[in-house]
Amino acid sequence: MKNQRVLVTGSSGLIGSEAVEYFDRQGNVVVGIDNNMRREFFGPSGDTSWNLERLKHSTKRFRHYSLDIRDRMGVSPLFEQNPFDLVIHCAAQPSHDKAKDIPITDFEVNALGTLNLLEATRQHCPEAVFILMSTNKVYGDAPNEKPLKELATRYEYADEADFEGIDETCRIDRTLHSIFGASKVAADVMTQEYGRYFGMKTGVFRGGCLTGPSHSSVELHGFLSYLIKVAVTGQTYNLYGYKGKQVRDNIHSHDVIRAMEEFAANPRPGEVYNMGGGRANSTSVLEAIECAGQLSGRKLNYVYHDENRKGDHICYISDLSKFRAHYPNWTLTRSLNSILEEMVEAQSVAVTRCA
Ligand SMILES: NC(=O)c1ccc[n+]([C@@H]2O[C@H](COP(=O)([O-])OP(=O)(O)OC[C@H]3O[C@@H](n4cnc5c(N)ncnc54)[C@H](O)[C@@H]3O)[C@@H](O)[C@H]2O)c1
Repeated sequence: MKNQRVLVTGSSGLIGSEAVEYFDRQGNVVVGIDNNMRREFFGPSGDTSWNLERLKHSTKRFRHYSLDIRDRMGVSPLFEQNPFDLVIHCAAQPSHDKAKDIPITDFEVNALGTLNLLEATRQHCPEAVFILMSTNKVYGDAPNEKPLKELATRYEYADEADFEGIDETCRIDRTLHSIFGASKVAADVMTQEYGRYFGMKTGVFRGGCLTGPSHSSVELHGFLSYLIKVAVTGQTYNLYGYKGKQVRDNIHSHDVIRAMEEFAANPRPGEVYNMGGGRANSTSVLEAIECAGQLSGRKLNYVYHDENRKGDHICYISDLSKFRAHYPNWTLTRSLNSILEEMVEAQSVAVTRCA
């Protein structure tokens, strides 16, 4: 992809910043929107301004606007002045647990913010490809209905037919989502609708655990990155329920952006894809704790709390078959081990810098 106009929302966050660097490197004009609201959600550790500064130095043509996606009157003129070819929407209130304290803000950012962007795209650049970064929380706790077996360090699907994990036919209603999951359902369905009803080139990526060294991770969001931060800095990790055997699949931000690039080149309007690390990159929290301890060279301390996070998945692995079938050029390039090594390295550098 070259010489295209790309808008990235949430451009200072994990996925947004990866998109900015990737598409800038290819010779596209990249515009970013991020108002550093992650700091408002999670306090100083959620501050993403360091990442914005990094992007200013690592990119050639990137332009940043400190706009709030809830501000329709602010967003619309940006679209009017820049007929975008591709919109990558990553700005969000991203935390399952945080949302219960701020349901209105959560809904305004996740649902209304998405509608503002969809409508601005429809008004000013209806031919653009629009990709929403959605979440596996749209399935609520329905994935927990799969029969499971308990192994020594993780839960596992009991039925062979479930080996690849959860696919897109899993229902999204009549299930416990968390407030965050419900606001993302609104955004997810509205994005599908702009594809199906208006014929726009919209696509929805339902993320498993997305990760990478550019995450401003906090306890409430950014599973692996936060766990590595705790391991490297010698703090204590809080483990909630399921004996620590709950399983997540982890995908590096680079592989997410590569998937977006494939979709943008050949969009299928209104489609929905699960996007995670799949079985190969799955780990239980207990296994990740063990691995982080080995890689960081110090045992990770943790405290176990009996009560699980409300609506938390027990075993979630993204079935990637549909995306792989539609986009056979895409493949996972980062193994779980290489992801962990990269994050230990990045976190160790960050700690040395702050010391
Ligand atoms: N990280 C994960 O494990 C994960 C998993 C599933 C889905 N997702 C989804 O992927 C997307 C990107 O996640 P991420 O991990 O990069 O999140 P992130 O928090 O790192 O990045 C989001 C960015 O959006 C910005 N932002 C928030 N509200 C804003 C607003 N009102 N206006 C402008 N900017 C705003 C934040 O400051 C932040 O920099 C989100 O939609 C999230 O729900 C993430």
